Amino acid sequence: MAEIKQPSAMTQSTTNGAHPPGSEPGIAAERPPDAPSAHRPRYAHIVGWGHHVPGKVITNQELEQIVDTNDEWIRSRTGIAERHVAADPKETSASLAVAAARKALEVADVPASKIDLIICSTTTPEHIFPATACLIQDALGAHNAGAFDLSAACSGFVYGLAMARGHILAGDAEYVLVIGTETLSRIVDWTDRETCILFGDGAGAVLVAASEVPGGIMSVDLGSDGSGGNNLILPAGGSAMPTSLETVSSGMHYVKMDGKAVFRFATRVMASSTRKVLERAGYTTDEVDLVVPHQANIRIIQNSVLNQLKIPAEKVFVNLEKYGNTSTASIPIALCEAIEAGKLEPGYKVVFVGFGAGLTWAACAIDWRTPVEKPETGWWKNTRRQATYSAAAARSMWRRAVRWVYEVLPDPEAPGRDESREKTPAEAPVKESTPERVRE
Ligand code: UT7
Repeated sequence: MAEIKQPSAMTQSTTNGAHPPGSEPGIAAERPPDAPSAHRPRYAHIVGWGHHVPGKVITNQELEQIVDTNDEWIRSRTGIAERHVAADPKETSASLAVAAARKALEVADVPASKIDLIICSTTTPEHIFPATACLIQDALGAHNAGAFDLSAACSGFVYGLAMARGHILAGDAEYVLVIGTETLSRIVDWTDRETCILFGDGAGAVLVAASEVPGGIMSVDLGSDGSGGNNLILPAGGSAMPTSLETVSSGMHYVKMDGKAVFRFATRVMASSTRKVLERAGYTTDEVDLVVPHQANIRIIQNSVLNQLKIPAEKVFVNLEKYGNTSTASIPIALCEAIEAGKLEPGYKVVFVGFGAGLTWAACAIDWRTPVEKPETGWWKNTRRQATYSAAAARSMWRRAVRWVYEVLPDPEAPGRDESREKTPAEAPVKESTPERVRE
């Protein structure tokens, strides 16, 4: 793993090499050598990041052929010029997530086997269950990880970071992979010009690691207001409105949105949530070096971050022109591009802030300490990495094969296999008195 920089050592060389979390040079001297690990300070740092978007791009001009809209309206009302969509059926929320996660692990130089927990935030899971996070776990070969999906819509990635931080600070995890992934093109009504112009597909992932170096995710703010649930909703397919011929024919399996209501809510909570995390971290707005906001609409970012918080535009990273609103994936994708654009350095104070369906909102303040230089990728590292991907695939196939063998083998417990064996109470023949016994 890349060395996380100490606050006091910001000007020192960063080439000390990899080391396990919590063993950073210089920290050990500050505590008694025999201090129990539970009493040592713990911090949660982002140490790896990656994103992946599908290859197919749909421009505003192409949308003009599909719905009654125009490039000028979309650009001026949203700031969006184009979006990536998962046109290939093989591109799914899990496949995009796996690609992003592999890049994050590569940056962190941490093998998948070290991940303790995978949190996948998505509104477009592969299935209602099993969790998309479990499919990602299998594909990565993260055989020591717990995995679950998180449903907080566009705020979900920051919710996930808050969960990761909590697990790390509690001492329950050393490495947590947090992913935001979406294939919104599959749930958007391509005849509804008020929604189809907004959304795009993609995934972003970060690896959060435990460390004793002060910094990392310093404060979080999570909020919700379920009274606005109907403002942005996918009505059918859940237990309230199970999928039926009727729900499909009436388009209830598509996103429904009251854009104006969401807009008003967003401009209010983006500013207030940012203020809260800054206050909790002890930072002023002037001290903020970079804001990575949810990329929904340039006017929302202008009204909240620029106008209300008075944070200058050069400190606010925006890339929605290229991707549209990728919901929970938008912040990690923007983070990766901000790093690529040289907008982030160790020592920077960073804010992530988002809002979305629920209604939900979330922000976090980060004291960024991780070097952002691209890691070296020699042939040996690449070969080793490819080998781990193949090993993960082989492991998954092996486990499926073992399950299949168990299925086709005759069941030794099946009735009639061993008549001499004494029957368990559950296997005993049902007596006439059974209904009464059940009622008792
Ligand atoms: O992650 C959270 C996801 N959701 C959001 O972030 C949504 C937040 N809301 C918004 O971004 C904006 O409300 C929208 C971009 C959705 C809409 O912008 P608006 O400035 O609120 O437009 P509007 O709904 O007030 O519509 C203005 C006009 C209407 O026509 P009339 O009634 O004035 O004649 C609409 O019918 O624009 C029309 N319109 C369009 N025209 C061309 C609506 N959609 C389009 C379109 N192309 N795609």
